[in-house]
Order: sequence, then structure tokens, then C-alpha cells
Amino acid sequence: MLNYADRLNHGFFKTISQVCTQMNVKAFVIGGFVRDIVLGRPSKDVDVVVLGSGIAVASKVAEALGAGAHAKYFKSFGTAMVRDGDWVIEFVGARRESYRTNSRKPIVENGSLSDDQNRRDFTINALSLSLQSKDFGNLLDPFNGISDIEDKVIRTPLDPDITFSDDPLRMMRAIRFATQLNFTIDKNTFEAIGRNKNRIRIISQERVIDEMNLIVMAKKPSVGFRLLEETGLLGLIFPQFVALKGVEMMNGMAHKDNFYHTLEVLDNLCEKSDNLWLRWSAVLHDIAKPVTKRFEPKIGWTFHGHEFIGAKMVPGIFKQLKLPQNEKLKYVQKMVQLHLRPIVLAQEIVTDSAIRRLLFDAGDDIDDLMMLCDADITSKNEVKVKRYLKNFQLVRQKLKEVEAKDKIRNWQPPVTGEAIMETFGLNPSKIVGDLKSIIREAILDGEIGNNFEEAYAFLLEEGKKKKLHLKNLVNPPVKIIPIPDPIDGTPNQ
Ligand code: CTP
Repeated sequence: MLNYADRLNHGFFKTISQVCTQMNVKAFVIGGFVRDIVLGRPSKDVDVVVLGSGIAVASKVAEALGAGAHAKYFKSFGTAMVRDGDWVIEFVGARRESYRTNSRKPIVENGSLSDDQNRRDFTINALSLSLQSKDFGNLLDPFNGISDIEDKVIRTPLDPDITFSDDPLRMMRAIRFATQLNFTIDKNTFEAIGRNKNRIRIISQERVIDEMNLIVMAKKPSVGFRLLEETGLLGLIFPQFVALKGVEMMNGMAHKDNFYHTLEVLDNLCEKSDNLWLRWSAVLHDIAKPVTKRFEPKIGWTFHGHEFIGAKMVPGIFKQLKLPQNEKLKYVQKMVQLHLRPIVLAQEIVTDSAIRRLLFDAGDDIDDLMMLCDADITSKNEVKVKRYLKNFQLVRQKLKEVEAKDKIRNWQPPVTGEAIMETFGLNPSKIVGDLKSIIREAILDGEIGNNFEEAYAFLLEEGKKKKLHLKNLVNPPVKIIPIPDPIDGTPNQ
């Protein structure tokens, strides 16, 4: 049996207790902080419910804690937040809430502790600890939240139809907690999600995506996506993902179920990376398979160009899901577009020029791309998997060699647009861009070396072919020769 008083050992808990004695009000720690004590998850976010004014108690507590504490008051919500070092303590008066069917905004009245516990989302989040000096740390667990934690169950304290209808975001939260904590959702609660799923539409997409991102960041996100799909929520939020589901059979040939394949790729990747955007790349890597699917009698099922169409779909999906419209979007697009390239390379004899092109296109994200490709190998055929992984090793080795030799990552061709304009007396125009890309292609193909001299000679040849007049010869860029450090002789950059 846990001694909860020992867990409330930070100084401010005692301060709250003393302030409440002076003010003759009662206060309790409630919600996620108590749950996390039981689960052994460290947390510094504390919710305190006061049988009275949360703001009045918070202001006295901040005063008593002195200079180190900062308080903020949200009068219209009747809440206050006190920061003490890296701890955040939120104060709120105990509430009773009643909801109307067309809105998330409840009618709020003052209530008792049990009113407040009743309006919580799950039994495991309705636990509270007394802050009164006479029973400091005493656990109040009206809905058997402790035994639900022991049994690893997510269950609503009241009739789940009421809890979910009151606040439909809780349907997402149920699935998110089940995924993060590796809990199951109680049958009754689970079925109520299916019944109430359409109410998710009254929740802002910003809040929905916050929960979805928490699912994507869990250790095994497939758990959450399966639950989202089974309850019907996924079809409402992200129908393109559900479209991956299913297997079609033609002339005795079936393709794999791309929904479950994607989830496997995602879980594989999550073992190696906690980059949210690489994880989203895994979610989206095959997103265009349903729209590119064809059956070709001689070959079987094909998904030609799904990487390109998929990359084109990414901005629309990001907008719909309210994911950011910035460089994260560009990164995911790039990953989706390139996700087959290393696999194709691993099937062929790997040429330097193919490697150079891959390095040029992926730039600094090449390691992430290789990680995604590793995760994408989900074949059950061990021989095949071994062969792929061996070839990937070869591709990785080649990537290293070519990069060491040619420095293609974040590479700029050695002859600049300015040099081209100066050489032929040109203004900024299409021909300058064309010449630049001819040089770039020649270097990537290995026709010429990646250095100014060869590239410039090549440019002059190309200029001649295009009948351009030579105006000025341009000097190579000055090389900076490192001066040895006078003390230890190492080069001084
Ligand atoms: N809560 C609720 N319904 C919601 C959101 C929150 O009943 N839609 C209650 C729960 O009792 C929850 C508490 O408010 O424990 C605090 O919510 P929040 O800080 O969002 O979540 P935590 O449970 O602390 O968990 P996490 O920090 O992982 O979100």
C-alpha cells in the first residue's frame, strides 16, 4: 500500500494545507498527478480542487511561498495557476457541470468533492488526496480507480454515454491513455465510443490532433490507431488512413493489407526514433496506395507512383488534420516521396551516381530516410528480409563512401549562377538556371568531377554549344587553407 503523504513531500503541499486551515476551506490533489503517483510516472503538474474559491486559495498560497512563486489568475474560468520552480499547480473550485447536447460548454455551478469527481473522465483520473492537516495524504477513490489501475482498465466513472456526450474529446483521451499506458478499454466504455463517435465533430481539430500526436508518440502507436479504427473515430477524423484497409483478390493474387502494414512500419520505426515527423512520415508513406492500385494480369497488383501521389496528398492531409504548414510538412513530403529509393537501390547494383542522386535529394535527412526504409521491410519471408537488410548495409556503406568523396549532402554545384552570368554577360534568366542544372546533372551522373575546374570547363563547352558569347573568365573560388594552431599544430578553422 502506497503512503501517499510521503509522495506529497514538496514544500508547497504543506503550504496549501496550512493556507486552507487558516481560510477554513478544504482542498484536494486530484486527477492525473495522483494517477501518476500510483503508476510511478514522474509528474510536476498538480491539479488542486478547492471546496470554495480556487483563486482565493491560490493567491494566499503564492503569497506564502514568497518570491520564488508566480501566480496567474483566470477570473472568467475561476481558476489560477501557481508556478513554484518547475512545478505547475492549478487551482480550481470544485464544480458540478451540466451539459447541453449542442455544445461542449457546460453550465458550471459550485459543487462538492464528489460532484467534482463525478465529472471527471475516467476512474483512474478521479482519484484524489486530501490536503487537510488531520488526514493529509488520505486517498479518496469513489470509483475504484486504484483497482482499475491494477487491472489496467480505462473506464468512465459514470454511464459512459453521459461522460462522452458531455465532452467528446474524452473518446480520444480514452484511446490515448490506453495506448500510452498499455491499458484496455472496458467493454461498456468502448462500446459507448462507437455510439457517440459522431460527437467528435463538435471538438476543435486542434484538440483532436493533440491527442493524435500523443498516440503517434506512444511506444506502440498501432494500439491507438487500431482502437480509433475499430470505434469508427478514425473514419471521421482521417478517412484516407482507413482507405488503406482491406485486401483484394484477383486471379488468385492478393495484395497485402496496407492499413496493418502501415501500422507495422510505424511500430518498427518507433523502436528507433522519437521524431514525431518521421513517425508521421511512416503513417503517410503508403497513403496513396488506394488511389494508385491497379491489377495488371501479367504482373499482379501494382501501386505505381504511389510515392509521388502520396507526397502530393500530404499538404491536404496536413491541412485537414491541422498539422503545421511549415518545414515539418516539407520534411514529411520529402520522406514520402523518397521512401522507395533506398529499397530500389538495394535491389540493383548500386552505382555511385544513383547514390549521389539519393544524397542530393535527401540531404541531411538521409539517415532518417534510411531508418524509415528499414522499418518498411515487413515481409514475413525471412530470407527476403535478410537479403534486403544485407543490401541496405551495402547502400549505407556506399552512402558513406560517396559522401566522404563527393560531399553531396547540402551540396551546391561548384559553379554559381553569378559566375555563369559573369562568364557570358547574361542577366538572371532561364538559360542561367538551365546551365546550372546541366552542370549539376553532369556531376551527379559522374560525367565530371565535383570541383570548380572541371565544372567550369564543362560550362564553357556547353556555352559554346549554345552559341553564347564569352565575356569574362571567372576565377575559381578562393580556397581557405587552415592555418595550423601554433600550440598543438592542429588545423585552426
Ligand atoms: N479531465 C477530464 N476530461 C477532459 C480532460 C481532463 O475529466 N477532457 C480531468 C481528468 O480528471 C484529468 C484532469 O482533468 O486527470 C487533468 O487533465 P489533463 O491535465 O488534461 O490530463 P492528465 O490526466 O493530467 O494527463 P496528461 O497530462 O497526460 O494529459
